[in-house]
Amino acid sequence: MAERPAALRITGGRKLRGKITVSGSKNSALPCLFASLLTDGQCQWRRVPRLSDVETALAILQRLGKSIDWRAGTLSAGKAARSGTLNPDQARSMRASILALGPLLAIGKKVILPLPGGCDIGSRPIAVHLAGLEKLGVTICISGGFVKAAPPKRLRAAHIVLDAPSVTGTENLIMAATLARGNTVIENCACEPEIVDLSRMLEAMGARIEGAGTATVTIEGVTALGGCRHLIMADRIEAGTYLAAVAAAGGSVELLKADASVLGAFLAKLEEMGVAIEAKPGSIRAKASGRPIATGFETAPYPGFPTDLQAQLMAVNCIARGKAAIVERIFERRFRHADELALLGADIRLRGNQALVTGAAKLQGARTEATDLRASASLVIAALAASGDTVIGGLHHLERGYEQLPRKLRSIGAQIRRVRLPYC
Ligand code: EPZ
Repeated sequence: MAERPAALRITGGRKLRGKITVSGSKNSALPCLFASLLTDGQCQWRRVPRLSDVETALAILQRLGKSIDWRAGTLSAGKAARSGTLNPDQARSMRASILALGPLLAIGKKVILPLPGGCDIGSRPIAVHLAGLEKLGVTICISGGFVKAAPPKRLRAAHIVLDAPSVTGTENLIMAATLARGNTVIENCACEPEIVDLSRMLEAMGARIEGAGTATVTIEGVTALGGCRHLIMADRIEAGTYLAAVAAAGGSVELLKADASVLGAFLAKLEEMGVAIEAKPGSIRAKASGRPIATGFETAPYPGFPTDLQAQLMAVNCIARGKAAIVERIFERRFRHADELALLGADIRLRGNQALVTGAAKLQGARTEATDLRASASLVIAALAASGDTVIGGLHHLERGYEQLPRKLRSIGAQIRRVRLPYC
């Protein structure tokens, strides 16, 4: 008989106090794991978060022929990829499987992978990836819902201008260009810190990359790459999520191994909301008392306000004093959490890519259902501030991107536990 669905039960109204250690970044670990396809040398990583998306990426790599070993906090990958054909079910379960494309083509493998469909937050096109790869000499054919990509004997350098500053598009093309013949220039790149972290790993493997983290990246192709050891950067979105939880529930929390330098836009908004922030190397302290001040914002590519923290700060605005106008400029359907937040009494008016939030003095706990990864985090934040019990179904969304979230929140005083729902 199928297992009863897992959920979270949260009893809100308690202030948060204590320290939390931030895990490694999901959105850096994923491209870094796929980068190991570029070599048959031994790649070793520290601080890879244990998440379902990471487990999926490791399963894909193993199916492609990589040897995987994870012990005592060190993850290792060795051997050469034998094939470029991804298992469709594995690949469809995680959009980031598209990151296998660039490395496999760079080592001369024909690649077959299912087109990553849209998801709950938007259409999620990949034209930027495919157009850039064609400039590098790859023949792309899309048929029957699959991408079939055939590389020349060796990719050739190109001057690429991205139509959109796609994060994984930038990552895919940088990885592909590391082994191309000649110097590749990519313009209109995304500038997210996770791209800088990936480039640090690639340089440790012997790649020659200039400008990662800026809009123009230059890659001097080399003939081969070796293994490396790499420490994954701290997860800035996880850190922001916990800071938003303190802003909503009140209290005083210190995040360890957190990096404030990559959270500038978000921290500025928290301070506007009345949260006291103290940042030191490897630590961010947040102190909040009383209702936050409603503060609007617009999401933007890095270093603008991160779309991956939009849902979380919407939740804080739901109990803030005043009204906040939120504009989502990155994804066209990233307000799915508004309907679920309304079940707790939130007042959110949606119009296209804009949300007008009127803060309520109190939210009431309710039965809710998560719709996507960051939406599930916003429900946790609202539940921590609400009075009474909230049950959040769809826990698998949360477990894709947050390592041990219930345990970490319990360690700072939250009343939160994993429960099994009755059969629906
Ligand atoms: C990455 O997704 C992240 N995922 C997402 O995090 C994040 O929300 C997103 O970047 C934006 O910051 C990983 O890094 C694994 P995009 P990605 O291609 O690369 C448009 C999370 O919650 N676009 O940068 O798939 C697209 O429509 C996840 O951890 C095109 O127009 O996002 C969107 O508006 C969710 N054409 C914008 O760019 C293309 O060919 C950003 O998309 C590609 C993208």
